[in-house]
Amino acid sequence: MIQRSVDPPVLEHGAIVDTDYALLIGGAWQSAASGAAFSVTNPATGERLAGVPDAGSAETQSAIDAAAVALPGWAATPAPVRAALLRKVATLMLERQERLATIMTLEQGKPLAEARGEIAYAASFLAWFAGEGERVYGQTIPASLPNKRLLVLRQPVGVVALITPWNFPAAMLTRKLGPALAAGCTAVCKPAEQTPLSALELGRLFVEAGFPPGVVNIITTRDPVAFADTIFADDRVRKVSFTGSTEVGKELIRKSAEGVKRLSLELGGNAPFIVFNDADFDAAVKGAVASKFRNTGQTCVCANRIFVQRGIYERFATAFTAEVAALKVGNGLDPETKIGPLIDAQALEKVRWHVGDAVAQGAEVLIGGGPYDLGHRAGHFWTPTVLAQATPAMLVAREETFGPVAPLIAFDSEEEVIRMANASPYGLAAYFYTRDVSRVIRVAEALEYGIVGANDALPSTAQAPFGGFKQSGLGREGGPIGIDEYLEMKFVSLGI
Ligand code: SIN
Repeated sequence: MIQRSVDPPVLEHGAIVDTDYALLIGGAWQSAASGAAFSVTNPATGERLAGVPDAGSAETQSAIDAAAVALPGWAATPAPVRAALLRKVATLMLERQERLATIMTLEQGKPLAEARGEIAYAASFLAWFAGEGERVYGQTIPASLPNKRLLVLRQPVGVVALITPWNFPAAMLTRKLGPALAAGCTAVCKPAEQTPLSALELGRLFVEAGFPPGVVNIITTRDPVAFADTIFADDRVRKVSFTGSTEVGKELIRKSAEGVKRLSLELGGNAPFIVFNDADFDAAVKGAVASKFRNTGQTCVCANRIFVQRGIYERFATAFTAEVAALKVGNGLDPETKIGPLIDAQALEKVRWHVGDAVAQGAEVLIGGGPYDLGHRAGHFWTPTVLAQATPAMLVAREETFGPVAPLIAFDSEEEVIRMANASPYGLAAYFYTRDVSRVIRVAEALEYGIVGANDALPSTAQAPFGGFKQSGLGREGGPIGIDEYLEMKFVSLGI
């Protein structure tokens, strides 16, 4: 059954009225052949927002077919033409920012102001990589023989599969699609089942901007394993980019072995946030709140362990707790809200488990410590929580909590805190606050992390590489290097 999606759904009183979303395959909107669909719900209220098709392997296969057919034409399209189309989508995103942000808040829960910020952040990846696509330079290399010329060409890797998470439903898609499309690749995208609407809304803009059919395809499914098996079994898919858990990332590494597919993986973190005695105190407190509670603590780069040097520990705990007390919990559509719901019941249970473990091991709850009761509404809310006397042995310090819980751990020396900060299998983001310039360099060099914020709690930006050391992933997204992930390098030796 083919459905042409003509008019975008109407937003009315915070609910999506027209709920007919469809898969985007080869430029056409269609439902799953089986007719299967699943509901997208609002994590703040438990209400159903919309239905989306529950695609199986057949639809994924059709999307790969469409991407493979579109590939030669798109790869041969001049880079400035590809760039202009990408810039057009970025402009459309900013024109429709309010609508896109509202849909994101409805399906993901984040406060509307953060959702607006994410739309701008997401658009920036398209605009920035449009420019990078125009600067994919090759090389000529001096040969050692007079009758040879050595050339290095850079070409798109081919059809790529992009698997994106629910915590940044727009920005994680464009952080992959921007460089992929700018490089000349075609894509099969699979958004997370909790938040597919943002991706489908972006799909509409790619169609409206005039992208050729098949260049961008979007599959929604509740069966990520079938999706992964289909893309890994198909030789035409040359690369897979995934943002999500380390556990799933490892499984994708195993699956990629058979077809030797290229992988980019942006996986879990366990970010240390270090405050030295000599820090700009107010900036450190504000930075810790911003880093910890962004998206209700549901980012891979959120501060997970807050290390505070003993000389300022008590003062920091008091000031930080006062800031946290002012964070209003509620539905993200309420302009006062700073802390939205957790994505689902499972996420809430993980937070409960981590806090319970910390308290059992002697942590002191300075504020919060339990679910937040919004009265009449269903929803997965947790009261922003600060735990004093936390230790590295606690689950909150060993694993990513992915919720609004801040454990404060005291330390004495620089050497000790570096050792504790690096004692993790993860290495995505780390932060530290100090006014000592020599220490800035020493600590930045010593931290085994792909992203280091020195007196900066929010380092993410389209222009800089994003990715991790150790089990936090493979490759980098963003920055000049981000487009390399979607390019093959070909050496041509020319005899003359
Ligand atoms: C993430 O949590 O993976 C993305 C966060 C960011 O881009 O800052």
